Amino acid sequence: MKKLTLLLGVLVLALGLLAAGCGGGKKAEKGQDPVLTKDELIVGTEPSFAPFEFPKENSKELTGFDMELIEALAKDMGYKKCTIKNMGFDALIPAVNNDNLDVAVSGFTITEERKKQVLFSQPYYKSGLALVVRKENADIRSIDDLGGKKIAVQIGTTGAMYAEKLKSKGAEVKTFNTSDLACMELKNKGVDAVISDRPVLQYFLAQGGNAYAKMVGKALSAEDYGIVISKKHPELQKALDKSLDNLKQNGTYDKLYEKWFGEKPAK
Ligand code: ARG
Repeated sequence: MKKLTLLLGVLVLALGLLAAGCGGGKKAEKGQDPVLTKDELIVGTEPSFAPFEFPKENSKELTGFDMELIEALAKDMGYKKCTIKNMGFDALIPAVNNDNLDVAVSGFTITEERKKQVLFSQPYYKSGLALVVRKENADIRSIDDLGGKKIAVQIGTTGAMYAEKLKSKGAEVKTFNTSDLACMELKNKGVDAVISDRPVLQYFLAQGGNAYAKMVGKALSAEDYGIVISKKHPELQKALDKSLDNLKQNGTYDKLYEKWFGEKPAK
């Protein structure tokens, strides 16, 4: 009897091990980067950037196009959990590079400068910079009218880099930790203009900003957003790109795009 119990015990154990090996979890392949076999994907973002990443009303939970996209990507990649960490925009790339984050998804423009420090996924959104001024302002009609004016930008962004170049033309630049604070400063008349990403400024105007602000001039740049990955994890970059392809093929990407931008993505 004792022997039989032992035998059964061993059998149960063996079956258990077998099940663990082929269960729904992620299976490690030989030489595979351990970041791909974890259960949890750790994502960083700076959430003052609606409609890409922002807190739900009366809640700390984050929502937006980027947030739903990375959730869907993590799922497609086989992660059981996708945890979002909130940090300063200029802290995201360092956090990816010291492995405090697996990826950063934060409306990041793919730039040559950043490519020296990190890897990017394939582009997932076409964006660009734009200029917003107060509604009653009649003398700033384009970027050429910013000499002697004050411009608000968010720290570490492409908008901040663009504004930096206008300093030689006599513009003064005020840098803020969040995108919301930059727009707030326009309302409070602390600055004459805000330079930021066009879709974010459009959303801000549509959500009530148009009571005191307007967009002027033409698009200042064409930019592509990408997901930020450490150079230590090229396999994670490949896996993300593959899952992005999957989501583009199975309609998930288009569905999210339409939900957040009210139109189909340009082909
Ligand atoms: N696209 C711009 C950049 O990459 C701004 C991104 C700001 N993102 C944010 N979540 N605040 O510099």
